[in-house]
Amino acid sequence: MEIQDRIQKLKKERNAVILAHNYQLPEVQDIADYVGDSLGLSMQAAQTKADVIVFCGVHFMAETAKILSPEKTVLLPDLKAGCPMADMIDPEGLKALQAKHPGAVTVCYVNTTAAVKALCDYCCTSGNALAMARHLLKTGRDIIFVPDRYLAGYISDQLGHPFIVWPGFCPTHARILPEDIQKAKKDHPDAKVLVHPECPPALTALADCVASTEKMCKFVSDDPAGEFIIGTELGIIHRMQKENPQKIFYPASGRAVCPNMKRITLEKILWSLQDMAHPVSVPEDTMNRARGAIERMLEIV
Ligand code: 13P
Ligand code: SF4
Repeated sequence: MEIQDRIQKLKKERNAVILAHNYQLPEVQDIADYVGDSLGLSMQAAQTKADVIVFCGVHFMAETAKILSPEKTVLLPDLKAGCPMADMIDPEGLKALQAKHPGAVTVCYVNTTAAVKALCDYCCTSGNALAMARHLLKTGRDIIFVPDRYLAGYISDQLGHPFIVWPGFCPTHARILPEDIQKAKKDHPDAKVLVHPECPPALTALADCVASTEKMCKFVSDDPAGEFIIGTELGIIHRMQKENPQKIFYPASGRAVCPNMKRITLEKILWSLQDMAHPVSVPEDTMNRARGAIERMLEIV
């Protein structure tokens, strides 16, 4: 029996659902029940009727699924699939920053550990960060935005309002250089440029569309252009090409590969379902406080 068939059979026996991020390997995306961005995956996790969620993504995403579905078993097929940006801030560092700005409201990017989320007023994703910040500006309070300095900088520029930031960043997006985009534009002058807001400002300045991975997928499907330069992790091109077979996609840089996302393979998904490995757990108190930040996000945007 093919490995895909074995996974499907076990999935039924376990009453499991497979959720995959847009950066996953093509064959992983192809067996998933749902492929999407951090926001979409959180919402799927909150809504699913399955008993088991096999999360094909990185640790903070699986943790978010567990926080939203505490009664379900959430499996991460490789526990080493972490996010270096999420590991750039810890609770002690955040507490020290908050102590310096006692009146400020704290927003964390979803790319954070549950322990950091538990200290925040609101969570956000790249898909709703702008709407969230716009809402919070009305409170008149200072805004602490952690840990991604580039996402914070992009939103802050859009709103013309400074934030208190943390110097975190995504090493994968930092590998894409402005020269890469300039060269791709020269080689493909009719192509539209899409860039993720985790990219530095020199890149977002060159883009026709700055958006979360889900909004990028929507943009390339809706836009009449036939060619696109993609300034984010390369895995997303599989989905874009599948949904738009007649269009052409050029990676902005062949170096934009997230090694953590690529740790999830079909073999590990099969083992995960066979052995119920590796269940993600979060201490109850942390989970309840972190859920508050996520639920306040889902209420606002
Ligand atoms: P999205 O929420 O846009 O999918 O981004 C998540 C991520 O980790 C990007 O690097
Ligand atoms: Fe983290 Fe960057 Fe990988 Fe996204 S692409 S999971 S932000 S390291």
